[in-house]
Amino acid sequence: MNRYAHITGWGIGVPEKILTNDDLAQMVDTSDEWIVSRTGIRQRHIAEEGETTASLGTEAALQAMEVAGVNPNEIDLIIVSTSSPEHVFPSTASLIQDRIGASKAGAFDLSAACTGFIFAMNMAAQAITSGSINTAIVLGAETLSRFVNWEDRETCILFGDGAGAFVLQTSADPGGVLSSVMRSDGSGGDLLSVPAGGSKRPASSQTVQDGLHFIQMNGREVFRFATRVMKQATEEAIEQAGMILDDVNWVIPHQANRRIIETAARRLKMPMEKVVVNLDRYGNTSTASIPLATVEAIRDGRVKPGDLIVFVGFGAGLTWGALAARWTGPIPDEKPKVWPYRFYTLYQAYVRVRSLILRFVRFVEGVIWGKRG
Ligand code: COA
Repeated sequence: MNRYAHITGWGIGVPEKILTNDDLAQMVDTSDEWIVSRTGIRQRHIAEEGETTASLGTEAALQAMEVAGVNPNEIDLIIVSTSSPEHVFPSTASLIQDRIGASKAGAFDLSAACTGFIFAMNMAAQAITSGSINTAIVLGAETLSRFVNWEDRETCILFGDGAGAFVLQTSADPGGVLSSVMRSDGSGGDLLSVPAGGSKRPASSQTVQDGLHFIQMNGREVFRFATRVMKQATEEAIEQAGMILDDVNWVIPHQANRRIIETAARRLKMPMEKVVVNLDRYGNTSTASIPLATVEAIRDGRVKPGDLIVFVGFGAGLTWGALAARWTGPIPDEKPKVWPYRFYTLYQAYVRVRSLILRFVRFVEGVIWGKRG
């Protein structure tokens, strides 16, 4: 039997707090007019205290599970693409695995900056089509506002927080993920980076004083790189899928800058009516931007089952990639389901108790084995 990886569920998690361009103009020397004309961004959502990459991701994952109609124990794999993980370790994916009660899932984070969601979808799709797993949740989740220097007007105007999730499931019906392109060029690593906090430059009072835990960016170089690779990767993904540009219903690009997207669309000869853009309301949410834009386009009725979509992204690394998919929607299924999101409070109580029991069992085992040792 042929196995295909279909996208059958989707969800988002977005902080309530909104920071407008006018708010930013109170903080740094900038203006709404400058930001809109140079980037297209009008506002962004910013995580408040208590909101984290895992909490936004959990919200997105639960919505996606409900749309797909999958039970937590059906999930085999959770990949969280993020550049703002909660910790160096444990992975944010593991924290989300615990919070959604996916007791049989393996979970790991993937670091490929803003391209990460495409890489993660490809990894999950490959695991499904190879027969290794049946069901995966892929997330893009970020709280990059915590790595932004709010005194640097060149970067602080760009980024926002949020999370998006897709459920990928196996099916014998042709469709789902059709092709993918993954590329990297580490020679451009210094163009967009957070220099300290890793093993090369561990956190110290000096690194904090020098502002090395903030995002550093060469905006012009990143702009040039982005417009070049978006065209190239989109064309490659379409060709690999055995399609032509005219077959494509939607291009859903990484939402970094409206001018980058328009330039790439012009070079592709793709009308902007076929390109999904929502960065005016979210800013650049890094790896969360593609699922956030997709979910909005599904919810407002633009993306429909049967549509051919090309997702295309670029970002730090440097990394870039594209993925072509035939949009599916939930797979009809007769078996009774648990609906975790609808019973959110009850379900959250259940997963917390489950997590506490696991911790308690580990504590008791520690006491017993500790005495013997
Ligand atoms: N408000 C007002 N002026 C600003 C400003 C701001 N927020 N940020 C920069 N400027 C100033 C600069 O200091 C510069 O002034 P100068 O000419 O006196 O030196 C001037 O505006 C022009 O700067 P420039 O860098 O040429 O602007 P730009 O048109 O290239 O736009 C970016 C800057 C950052 C918006 C643009 O380069 C960009 O979007 N790059 C890609 C970044 C990106 O997408 N990163 C994430 C990738 S995943």
